[in-house]
Amino acid sequence: MKAPHLLLLLTFVASQGFAADANTNAPLPRTDAQGNPLRRAPTGHVSNYDEAKVGNYTLPDPLVLRNGQPVRDATTWMNVRRPEILSLYETEIYGRVPGNAPTIRWEIRELATNALNGAAIHKELVGTIGNASPPQTVTVDLLLPAGARTASPVLLHMTFFGSLRSALSPGGNATSAQPRLSELGPVTTILARGYGYATVRYTQFEGDSKANSLSIVRKLALGPGQTEPAPDEWGTISAWAWGAGRVLDAFEQDPAVDAKRVALIGHSRLGKTALWGGARDSRFALVFSSCSGEMGAALARRDYGETVDDMAANFPWQFAGNFQKYPGRWNEMPVDAHMLISLIAPRPVFITGGTEDQWADPRGQFLAAVAAGPVYRLLGREDLGTTELPPLDKPLITGALGFLYHTGGHTITPEDWSAFLDFADRHLKAR
Ligand code: GCU
Repeated sequence: MKAPHLLLLLTFVASQGFAADANTNAPLPRTDAQGNPLRRAPTGHVSNYDEAKVGNYTLPDPLVLRNGQPVRDATTWMNVRRPEILSLYETEIYGRVPGNAPTIRWEIRELATNALNGAAIHKELVGTIGNASPPQTVTVDLLLPAGARTASPVLLHMTFFGSLRSALSPGGNATSAQPRLSELGPVTTILARGYGYATVRYTQFEGDSKANSLSIVRKLALGPGQTEPAPDEWGTISAWAWGAGRVLDAFEQDPAVDAKRVALIGHSRLGKTALWGGARDSRFALVFSSCSGEMGAALARRDYGETVDDMAANFPWQFAGNFQKYPGRWNEMPVDAHMLISLIAPRPVFITGGTEDQWADPRGQFLAAVAAGPVYRLLGREDLGTTELPPLDKPLITGALGFLYHTGGHTITPEDWSAFLDFADRHLKAR
């Protein structure tokens, strides 16, 4: 097998147009003239931002079974093809959750009934992870609209740093209308529109660095004598996505939350996590994936911005060990981003990218959503309704696939939030 693989690799490298860079160690500037990051991966690949050099690729067809038969109906999709794709993502890309993953026991405490000047009830959900000693806990902050007569839909935002706590004064009697941290959504608007809003910091489930990434749930799940997860077991993106599902378990225990109307939100690596979280747990009613980029919503077969080669070298802990098979061999990956999105179908997905975030390949994200369209249509939902990249700052939100290309950088902009809330209203508000 070795020789044909090598040959394939070389042909591939040559066809991608970066062979010339493969044997040089000439120092690279940190950015190109437009300010886009330039990286040389260990494979020799150098970041490309030229559409003319994106390369030719053929996407695997989500509607063809592994045995070559076409998928013609929703039942075959749900019972056969979807499980095939899910299992490929589990074993080859993000890693499956091991059977002995720890349980999380939740306790729900009401902290204030008049938070945000009376607009919200503030609760904290404290989860005890497994039986570790000393005990390990995860805390979720939840604001629910005060005076709601029925269970509220909730936006669950997995965050890097921000917690709703920072928007509230000690004791939850907030006077400030907006949180200090720009990472958070427009809290008062979200509440006024009838949604609950919850935040959970991702590193409470598992760390996010070479040194810390085997320290909480992935560590607790190691079997006797096992020093690291098996090659098909969870990287940290899977651990975070699994964690989002555990928060949903807690929501199911709170009658004030409508756990059937919970949206999962994440940005960047947490945008990847939101997609995977929504894919692997179909209880999530909707997904908002902001600037998720490579191995998130962006097509990996496009040579544009960050690539598999960068991702596998710089963030190995975020993926299954098996993902290391694919640097330099993107076309051999059995999946691509359109298949990740299609795993969420028919549930709605909203995807954003930014003009100043070419590293995350906004166009590649759009094209993945386009290529997920046939699955949505098969399931009776509207897709994006176009194959042309929409004008900047013009949200496409009429179907079950939503997309917005914002002017700006690697962030969730206020306009993204606003378009997302309109998109959510269409899907999560009782009709
Ligand atoms: C890096 C990484 C991206 C990731 C981003 C983030 O830039 O290359 O893939 O999305 O970090 O999480 O902010």
